[in-house]
Amino acid sequence: MNTTPAPDTLTITRPDDWHLHVRDGAALQTVVPHTAAQFARAIIMPNLRPPVTTAAQASAYRERIRAAVPAGLSFEPLMTLYLTDLLAPQEIERARDAGVVAVKLYPAGATTNSDAGVTDLRKTYKTLEAMQRAGLLLLMHGEVTSADIDLFDREAVFIERHLIPLRRDFPELKMVLEHITTREAVQYVGSADAYLGATITAHHLLYNRNAIFSGGIRPHYYCLPVLKREAHRQALVNAATSGSSKYFLGTDSAPHPAHLKEHASGCAGCYTAHAAIEMYAEVFDHAGALDKLQGFASFHGADFYRLPRNRDTITLRRESWTPPSSFALGEAELKPLRAGEVLPWRLLS
Ligand code: DOR
Ligand code: ZN
Repeated sequence: MNTTPAPDTLTITRPDDWHLHVRDGAALQTVVPHTAAQFARAIIMPNLRPPVTTAAQASAYRERIRAAVPAGLSFEPLMTLYLTDLLAPQEIERARDAGVVAVKLYPAGATTNSDAGVTDLRKTYKTLEAMQRAGLLLLMHGEVTSADIDLFDREAVFIERHLIPLRRDFPELKMVLEHITTREAVQYVGSADAYLGATITAHHLLYNRNAIFSGGIRPHYYCLPVLKREAHRQALVNAATSGSSKYFLGTDSAPHPAHLKEHASGCAGCYTAHAAIEMYAEVFDHAGALDKLQGFASFHGADFYRLPRNRDTITLRRESWTPPSSFALGEAELKPLRAGEVLPWRLLS
């Protein structure tokens, strides 16, 4: 731990968000400005309805996102395709030529809009070979879906059953284990070679599973992979603040209408884009590791994706403020994480 007193302002290279959901249509007008105010680039998840499965769809989606960036801000959406059993290897070359940087694996049934996901990884091997050749990354929602596996064990079992064989079969395919939540994932990623990285969300760094049940069921803390025990949260904080270039910022900010989260069968996802870098700063400050925030938020992801690091900066100040209790999401309401609660760090605009 650092023994010098923590500073009250922090200027770092502008960060990127390596895992983000912005949805489509009216939702873009609310959520894209939040991300563009903080981040220079973001990896855009393709789990729309229907999913983004062609280069042409990714290009059209990129234009809709760009159109929602407020004047005066510069923000670059980095596009991905959604892997299905049927995604053709030929589409990978078209995707690369259209500037798509990665393909997302959702095991079928694992999470929001994953019904078109992969039912058997063997069916995707020709496409994964094309990705390895083309230099596209494989981003993974790393959870098994078998009903006989406990919900809290799904990430660890995914590593054993799927990730280890995949890395053996595709040793030069760059892979990102997204939104890691367990000690097992930290151990596996930490001991792997430079072809494997991992993103970590702010909510998995801030909360353990007690948050979902404190004083009643709290649907705004429900996401997938679900929050885990405190020992796992601590392992994530240690990984993120370690300075290791294998770990980088990915918010998995996932907007849902409040009435679909506060529901008998509530949607998974935490919305954090309105105050993401502030929440990460809080975690790093608490761990006495503010000096490690820039690497995690601004350098490691860009280096892993072999993209240039950003050149401009952002400044955060230690100053209490309270985010709004909700935002408009089209006709619906969007309740952000920390709605109406005090945040100790503030982004200066
Ligand atoms: O909590 C989550 N929400 N996890 C996911 O994997 C998907 C995301 C969403 O799209 O809402
Ligand atoms: Zn996600």
